[in-house]
Amino acid sequence: MALTSPENRLWWKEHLHGVEIVWISIAFLWGLVMFFTMIYWHIAGEQNLSNEAYRVAPEEYGKRVEAFAEKYKVREEGTTSIPVVRPPAGGDAYMFGRLWEWWPILELQKGQSYRLHLSSMDWLHGWSLQPANINIEIHPNYEMIITIKPDQTGVFGVICNEYCGVGHSQMVGRIYVVD
Ligand code: CUA
Repeated sequence: MALTSPENRLWWKEHLHGVEIVWISIAFLWGLVMFFTMIYWHIAGEQNLSNEAYRVAPEEYGKRVEAFAEKYKVREEGTTSIPVVRPPAGGDAYMFGRLWEWWPILELQKGQSYRLHLSSMDWLHGWSLQPANINIEIHPNYEMIITIKPDQTGVFGVICNEYCGVGHSQMVGRIYVVD
């Protein structure tokens, strides 16, 4: 019963049992292992890309992406004539998400590095590169920049992995990597 004060007012200051201290130590050390694994794997495993984020107005960002597409367009694809854009090797590449597409299609060169800029024109979208499984949340008003260096050729899909309305499942983009 807790109606009366505990006999020992410093109940939390009890002597620790040996087994208890062993478990606390194991948990603490494991926590440290997990923490340093994150840092190690970021560098050695090249996982969890470092990104930069900057504030940008959607209209402003949209203009930059359109100017980029205009400048480096190599052809158009599909019924909606979506431009396929080939940025200069080592340069900036732009893509935006909006209801419900990733625009434009990019064509990158294997072994070259690019600064890939991503932002949303409207709502929250999830930029998910398949099958590489790189995932970045794309917010309006924020420009995310990641440095990527494709190490294999092929066709890569970009899907949206944040639910964004009725067209969410059709929100598919594309990146070509060529030699
Ligand atoms: Cu965009 Cu889901």
